[in-house]
Amino acid sequence: MHEDGSGKLIALAEPKAATDMRGRPLSDLRISVMDRCNFRCPYCMPRATYDDRYRFLSATERLTFDEVSRLARLFVAEGVRKLRLTGGEPLLRSGLADLVGELSSIQGVEDLALTTNGVLLAQHAAELAANGLRRVTVSLDTLDHETFRRMSGGFDGLERVQDGIRAAREAGLAPIKINTVVQRGINDGQILDLARHFRGTGIILRFIEYMDVGNRNDWDTRRVVPSRELRDAIMAEFPLRPVAGAYRGEVAERYTYEDGAGEIGFISSVSQPFCGDCTRARLSSDGVFYTCLFATHGTDLRTPLRQDASDDALLDRIRGNWRRRDDRYSELRRSAATAQPLRKIEMHYIGG
Ligand SMILES: C[S@@+](CC[C@H](N)C(=O)[O-])C[C@H]1O[C@@H](n2cnc3c(N)ncnc32)[C@H](O)[C@@H]1O
Ligand code: SF4
Repeated sequence: MHEDGSGKLIALAEPKAATDMRGRPLSDLRISVMDRCNFRCPYCMPRATYDDRYRFLSATERLTFDEVSRLARLFVAEGVRKLRLTGGEPLLRSGLADLVGELSSIQGVEDLALTTNGVLLAQHAAELAANGLRRVTVSLDTLDHETFRRMSGGFDGLERVQDGIRAAREAGLAPIKINTVVQRGINDGQILDLARHFRGTGIILRFIEYMDVGNRNDWDTRRVVPSRELRDAIMAEFPLRPVAGAYRGEVAERYTYEDGAGEIGFISSVSQPFCGDCTRARLSSDGVFYTCLFATHGTDLRTPLRQDASDDALLDRIRGNWRRRDDRYSELRRSAATAQPLRKIEMHYIGG
């Protein structure tokens, strides 16, 4: 309620979400808090590029937690209801639980989640949950040590990731989701092991098609395994039933095991693009606002923020950019419009 000046209380209308040129509302914000990572997954940060000479953002270039919180509050005023912290590896950002505490206190935030590779999760799960994190997505591509090494860019850590998943569960973070990027010839032979491992645990496994994010991962369409193929392989052993989409913009095609062993999902950005329902904005760790995961450019919010811009001025910038949004890269991927190679933003920087 709100006073109208004459002493009468009037109900405040729910803020109306800004919509873009294709009528898509702004409802999710993914916040990259760190462009660095403790892994070098070849499909994301191949070692050849991300070596000792690579120049990552410095601490002063990254937004402070207060700056992130202020921008998040403004995005919420424009209609955002879901926040996700990501990176790079978000748990490399020290004191992340403090930021979670600030974000969880923003009125209007209905969902606050984290995407992590899980290596540091066991250390932080309890504090994150206590400060208001609702749920976590852990990236795990395999249960095989050798494949894990290969897909993380040469690291051991499978046990630590599994410990992290356990700690998240004990901390009450739910639902826990597992993201598995599938690459033909690398881990596609292991998807049934993953399905067997997670079914019946309450943890939701989601297979992600290998995407052409950025320009450095040497993407090759022959390495993409279409979700349909994965789903058929799983269905041959475990019958599945589709679940109706829960909300606009949901990225995963969801299924339940017919025997009641829980849910499994497929994210098919390559074979079945979902741009038409994409409601996600992205904020890089240095404060650039992007309207697409495959964007070639974004809008700097850090400069006005650090020059004491008013909330109204920042809101205008956020709203204006969303209203001009016309992105649908995944739908255009194969058409002439994308025949020219684009200089896309890298995933570790923009956030997954
Ligand atoms: C960029 S990571 C950032 C968060 C954290 N480091 C992690 O790995 O969960 C976010 C998600 O993007 C996925 N990802 C990275 N590169 C990808 C690619 N080329 N295709 C599909 N998914 C990718 C990762 O597997 C992960 O689930
Ligand atoms: S996918 Fe996540 S863990 Fe792997 S290199 Fe990228 S940011 Fe790091």
